[in-house]
Amino acid sequence: MASQHLILLLAIFVSLCVAAIGQGNKIVPFNPSCSTTGNYSGDSQYKKNLDQLLSTLATAATDDGWFNTSSVGTGGDDQVFGLIMCYADRNPTQCKECLAGAPAGITQVCPGSRTVNANYDACLLRYSDVSFFSVADKTVAFNVYAKSYVENMAAMNETRWQLMSQLAETAGQTKLRLDTGSTRLGSTSMMYGLAQCTRDLAVSECSTCLSDYIVQLSKIFPNNSWAAIKGYSCYLRYDLSPFGITLPPSSPVPPPSSTRSTGFVAGLSVAGAVSFMVILGVSIWLLLRRRRKHARLMREHQEMEDDFEKGTRPKRFRYDELSVATDFFSDDCKLGEGGFGSVYKGFLKDLNLEVAIKKVS
Ligand SMILES: *[C@@H]1O[C@H](CO)[C@@H](O)[C@H](O)[C@H]1NC(C)=O
Ligand SMILES: *[C@@H]1O[C@H](CO)[C@@H](O)[C@H](O)[C@H]1NC(C)=O
Ligand SMILES: *[C@@H]1O[C@H](CO)[C@@H](O)[C@H](O)[C@H]1NC(C)=O
Ligand SMILES: *[C@@H]1O[C@H](CO)[C@@H](O)[C@H](O)[C@H]1NC(C)=O
Repeated sequence: MASQHLILLLAIFVSLCVAAIGQGNKIVPFNPSCSTTGNYSGDSQYKKNLDQLLSTLATAATDDGWFNTSSVGTGGDDQVFGLIMCYADRNPTQCKECLAGAPAGITQVCPGSRTVNANYDACLLRYSDVSFFSVADKTVAFNVYAKSYVENMAAMNETRWQLMSQLAETAGQTKLRLDTGSTRLGSTSMMYGLAQCTRDLAVSECSTCLSDYIVQLSKIFPNNSWAAIKGYSCYLRYDLSPFGITLPPSSPVPPPSSTRSTGFVAGLSVAGAVSFMVILGVSIWLLLRRRRKHARLMREHQEMEDDFEKGTRPKRFRYDELSVATDFFSDDCKLGEGGFGSVYKGFLKDLNLEVAIKKVS
């Protein structure tokens, strides 16, 4: 029964953690951060650059790896920098819909803002007139959590701390800046985790962003059976039920040219050749390690997919099946405000199930 609730909550998280009500090809973010000063006007060069950026960002990310950073303009006030990325716990359809609909949604919600950070259910979109790449923004956009609780709070916190700390460290070392893992919790349960950063971040920026959120998890969610923290540079989620992970299709790797590198080595001094070989060896080792990691992620994902297909794992719920039952983020749903922001509740009448979402102000 409890696990059934968890599955439902998971599904609700998938579908409702953002008021991502698609209107045609437009998706509205939840709780975006829009700058309010120095707004651009409708006929400005900034707007032209922004429009161009938004249309190319989404296409580039759809075609290649579900992530892109780019800039349009040649310096000065009119240059605009942008970033778009899909979250790994969404499927390809949700990712593509988000990439396609986010740009139109944001310009409707934040018309005129030069700097925007916006989180959607399946993706993240940011743009600004100053470059924000490679520096982690540790602001919490919002939290999503279960209103079901574990009994052994201390064990849960300890297990979560260890699992998520490990993921925070390893996520930054992967090319996709994400890692997933699971571990045993007590004798009968499992805990699953996901840590993901935007791909412009270096290892250390990624891990400090995630580590910040791990501390917050312990403070804010001492005994919730799942929770997630979404920010503008990193994303953390833990759960006592498994959830699907989708990695972007990998782009084709150009075949190595062996003849040229042989000739190159021959032309070097002995010392040069030795250091070249060392660097080559380390690079190959790093490459293989990365490949193995990627292969492992793919394998785990495939197993999960297979289990879904075979029906041994929870059925996935479709967004439109669930969204009708709740009315999130309206003032009617507001439970209260506190140190951490406003809390909204949603209620699925048919299922007699209450869920909560925290909007961080
Ligand atoms: C973003 O897309 C452009 C155009 O496809 C591409 O040239 C660039 O390398 C991409 N950037 C990243 C970081 O993927
Ligand atoms: C700038 O635009 C934002 C919306 O993007 C709006 O909320 C804000 O009031 C505008 N600021 C001014 C000074 O017009
Ligand atoms: C959770 O565990 C961490 C790491 O052991 C500890 O620092 C923190 O105080 C714990 N929090 C709670 C609420 O028990
Ligand atoms: C843990 O969960 C219960 C509900 O079962 C809740 O009432 C309680 O406040 C929670 N404990 C802490 C320390 O927050």
